[in-house]
Parts: sequence; structure tokens; C-alpha cells
Amino acid sequence: MHADSWALRAKKLGFRSRAVFKLEEILKKTNSLHSDSLVLDIGSAPGGWSELIKAMAPAASVYAIDLLPMDPVKDVFFFQEDLINIHKIPEIYSLKLRFDLVISDLAPNLSGIRAVDEEKIFDLNIETLRTASIYLNRYNGSFIIKTFQNSLLKRFRTEMEKCFHLVQTYKPAASKSKSGEIYLFGEKPL
Ligand SMILES: C[S@@+](CC[C@H](N)C(=O)[O-])C[C@H]1O[C@@H](n2cnc3c(N)ncnc32)[C@H](O)[C@@H]1O
Repeated sequence: MHADSWALRAKKLGFRSRAVFKLEEILKKTNSLHSDSLVLDIGSAPGGWSELIKAMAPAASVYAIDLLPMDPVKDVFFFQEDLINIHKIPEIYSLKLRFDLVISDLAPNLSGIRAVDEEKIFDLNIETLRTASIYLNRYNGSFIIKTFQNSLLKRFRTEMEKCFHLVQTYKPAASKSKSGEIYLFGEKPL
């Protein structure tokens, strides 16, 4: 399907972003969302992924964090905060080691200078991975992170392999074919 068609479909179904279909595809393939999952949505604004989680699993508990404000999503607990300060949010900190699923669609502001941007993305990915390792339950926690194909991707995947029993790479159909975005999935924290 053409990228614009995914956008139209998202609009028709009432979702805030077309990114929902990429996440939906990965969630179905990995079977990582359950009816009562406790989910942490990192980089959640404008709220498409949080909406999707609640649509797929209405009884799931969703905590969402973003630097930017986010219009309320019904029954989603949103906190406007930088990821590096997540431990300062008592409602989330008290759920350390209890989340079933951490999803991250974080995207840093890019400078346009390739080497600088690749470092920025890598650093943010490492911060996100560290957060997932702290907040996921050790028994069957899952992590889904959107990132980009670049010279540091392999290094990041290696870091993920140190943190999870299983790591897989996904390129969902709804992801623009030319876009450099790619998704990594980690299961069962080590
Ligand atoms: C592509 S958008 C997320 C879209 C969202 N998944 C959706 O479906 O609506 C990326 C988000 O990451 C957020 N972000 C970037 N750096 C961040 C940080 N350090 N802490 C928290 N959020 C951050 C941005 O503010 C932006 O809203």
C-alpha cells in the first residue's frame, strides 16, 4: 500500500498517526501485547501508539512519556518529561521491573550532519534500552524500538543482544519503503 493510503486509513479509523500500523504489525507478529499488559510508551506524542494499544487491548494499563504535550488519550497516564528524567516520575518509578511491554518511537531533533545525527540517535537508543532494562519484568518483558538504518545500527543491535534472550529486526509493510526506519524487538530481558 502507498504511504498516503496508510495515512488515509489511519484518519478513517480515528488514529492520530499512520505509525500505528507499523506497531500493529510488529505486535501481531511477536504476540507481545496481552489483554492485561502493563505498557510504557516512550516518545508517545501525538499519541497514536498509545491509542493503538488501548484499541487492541482495552484492559491494558498504559503509561506514556514525551518531551512535548499530548492531548489526552482515554485511560492513558501521560507525563510530559524528558526520558532521562523518567525516574523522577513516582507513578512510573513505582512500577520498576513490572512492565510487560516497552515501546519507543523516540526521534531526536536532527542537525542534518550525518555523523552528528547518527551519534544522537545511538545515544537516545542506548538511553531507551537502559530504561527498558530497568522497567521491564524479567520473566517475559518485551521491547520494541523504532530506529534508523545507519552506520551505528549494528552496534546498537549488539547492545540489545546483551540485554535480551532474543533480538529480531522488523521492517513493517506500512513503513515507507524508502524510509530508513527499522524496528528492533527484544524479548525476555537477561
Ligand atoms: C515520531 S514521534 C512519536 C509518535 C508516536 N509514537 C505516535 O504514534 O503518535 C517522536 C516523539 O519523540 C519525542 N522525544 C524525542 N526526544 C525525547 C526525549 N528525550 N524524551 C521524551 N520524548 C522525546 C518527541 O517529542 C516526539 O513527540
